[in-house]
Amino acid sequence: MKFHQLKRGEKILFGVSGLIVIFAVLSFIMLEVYRARLNRPMYPTTTFFNFTPEGEEGSKLFRIRGCPDCHRALRNGTNQGVDLDGIGSKRSFAYLLAFIKKPEATYETKTLDHGLNKGAGYVAALPDNEQHALAVFLSELKAIQGSPDARLPMPERSGFVDEMVKIWAPDSWKRDRHDLREETPPQNTKEKPE
Ligand code: HEC
Repeated sequence: MKFHQLKRGEKILFGVSGLIVIFAVLSFIMLEVYRARLNRPMYPTTTFFNFTPEGEEGSKLFRIRGCPDCHRALRNGTNQGVDLDGIGSKRSFAYLLAFIKKPEATYETKTLDHGLNKGAGYVAALPDNEQHALAVFLSELKAIQGSPDARLPMPERSGFVDEMVKIWAPDSWKRDRHDLREETPPQNTKEKPE
């Protein structure tokens, strides 16, 4: 059998595709080598926890009651529901307990899975003591202030951001909103785990 000579256009097409594949494979190998040689995590960990006995109890219930089927926390679980690492720095204990008990009345928008006859509907029907322990556990999943999971921005002021707000923010914002850091003293910065 005689092979056809490749046409000029085909050569360019295959050549370019080949180069892209080689580039992708090489980049992947280089990244993995870099990661393997790094003696610290490639991305800094910004969430941490320090459990009380009830929080510890809640962490066990979290697994037993199937929450990791949908939620990620403590390096376990899936990303089907929301990632719960750091949630204790975003939501208060009162909110978390209220959400567990009455999700549809507590969540800002319509719920997908929590609520009557939905995938996680059983959570609202768990015994009171289990719901309490779960809320304690969740409230103890903290995030370092200023990290993406934290409610409060970084404790230091940013001259750039302050200047931008001064120039661009509408007057109504300045009247109706305020800096969250003014109501709460800096959090978590000292608790940062090593
Ligand atoms: C079937 C999937 C599923 C299961 C199981 C599940 N969740 Fe959820 N969870 C979700 C989804 C999706 C959301 C986002 C709200 C919604 O749409 O229901 C959510 C939201 C939450 C929130 C609110 C987060 C926020 O910022 O308001 C908390 C707290 C929570 N889940 C706790 C739990 C706990 C505790 C369990 C186990 C007892 C559990 N969930 C089991 C899917 C699930």
